[in-house]
Amino acid sequence: MSDRRDFFGKALGAFAGLGALGALYAAKRTWDPLPSVKAAGFTTLDLSGLSENKLYVDKWRGKPILIIKVAKNSKPNEAPNGNNKNAYEDPRLISVGGHKYMIVIGLCTHLGCIPDYFSDKHKFICPCHGGQFNAAGEVLKAPPPSPLVIPPFKITGNKVVLGEEGPEYKKLKESGLVA
Ligand code: FES
Repeated sequence: MSDRRDFFGKALGAFAGLGALGALYAAKRTWDPLPSVKAAGFTTLDLSGLSENKLYVDKWRGKPILIIKVAKNSKPNEAPNGNNKNAYEDPRLISVGGHKYMIVIGLCTHLGCIPDYFSDKHKFICPCHGGQFNAAGEVLKAPPPSPLVIPPFKITGNKVVLGEEGPEYKKLKESGLVA
C-alpha cells in the first residue's frame, strides 16, 4: 500500500512538474522580457530589435508593463460592436525610430487583472470578465471603462524611460489621451 502511495505521490509530483513547465513554456511563447535598466523609480526600455505584433513585458514601480511594436495592419478581427479600426493609426501609440509602440501599464482598467494578448486576433482579452482592448490599448469591449493606462515616459534615441514626463508624453496629456 505504501508502495502504491509512493508511486502515486511520485506520479503526481512528476505531473505537477510537467504542468509547471508547460505553464512556463506557454508564458514564454506569448511574451518575452525586454532588455531594460531599472533605477530608483525609472525603467529604461531598449526598443531596438523588437519583433512586430509580439508582446513584451517589463516592470515599472512594481507594475507590469506591456509593450508591442504595432504592425502596420493591426486590425482586430471578430471585432465586438464592429470596432475594428486599425490600431496602427491610434494617436496613443508612441513613435520611436520610425516605428510605433504601445507601452501601457498591464492592468485592466475594470478591476485590475492582467489582460492576455492574442497576436492572431490583434487584441487583448481580459481573463477576468472578458473585456477586450486593441493593440493600442483602446477598449473594444466592456466592462473596462477606459483604455489601458500609458505611464509617464521620455524618449531618448531608441530607448524609452518610464517614470519621466518627456515632451511626447506631455503632448498626449494635453490632448487628453493620457490620464
Ligand atoms: S478585470 Fe478585466 S474585464 Fe474585469
